[in-house]
Amino acid sequence: MKLLIMGRPGAGKGTQAVNIREYYNIPHISTGDIFRANLKEKTKLGLLAKEYMDKGQLVPDSLTNDLVKDRLSQADCKNGFLLDGFPRNIAQAQALDEFLKENNEALDAVLDIDVKPEVLIDRIVGRRVCKNCGATYHIKNNPPKQEGICDKCGGELMQRADDTYDTAYSRLKVYDEQTAPLLDYYRGQHLLKSVNGDQDFAKVFEDIKKVLAK
Ligand code: AP5
Ligand code: MG
Repeated sequence: MKLLIMGRPGAGKGTQAVNIREYYNIPHISTGDIFRANLKEKTKLGLLAKEYMDKGQLVPDSLTNDLVKDRLSQADCKNGFLLDGFPRNIAQAQALDEFLKENNEALDAVLDIDVKPEVLIDRIVGRRVCKNCGATYHIKNNPPKQEGICDKCGGELMQRADDTYDTAYSRLKVYDEQTAPLLDYYRGQHLLKSVNGDQDFAKVFEDIKKVLAK
């Protein structure tokens, strides 16, 4: 299964990607996670990406496209993948189409997790992430058993640097301006499948399985 997962910032892409990865046994490739891992290691790419991420802007396509092509060329992507957070504009989508065509591959579906902007700011500023294993929580919607501690590995929970009110508003604006046009782009290719992401976590995943089985 070769899939994209789309949705506004905070829609639940990363949360549902964990379920999809396990259910379909495909690697989860999040460009945001790759940039954050690079920043943790203080690589040149990570430090450069930080300048854009902190402002809620897109990292330049020249850096992002090559990074994704390299990752998709790895052996574990031969039978499928789940791309999360890429593509984010038409130029990235065209670069992906070109890469897939060159490799005689094609997407099976583009999943859109649809959530109205009103609920997303709360989701974003209330998110907590495990420093150690990356598991995602929410202080109200999905709190850990013990405050500040990961249920899965006992690691310390932290807040992402871009999960502030100001940056969240910029990210939502960038989504509307640059990423939302991709919905029509993929609708035109008959790949788009939308689910309502403003429901209980488990119900969202049930709906994802249903639309992907069609
Ligand atoms: P990225 O890491 O991709 O962030 P994003 O798109 O803003 O999305 P988020 O990770 O914030 O949200 P999510 O949909 O994964 O939500 P989650 O599941 O965590 O990108 C970050 C930055 O990197 C960008 O701004 C850009 O600078 C750069 N970047 C990345 N890719 C790029 C690219 N291709 N090109 C250029 N730049 C790029 O859930 C959020 C919260 O809500 C959690 O607390 C969760 O517990 C809660 N929640 C989830 N589902 C539910 C539910 N059903 N009910 C209630 N609460 C829920
Ligand atoms: Mg995410």
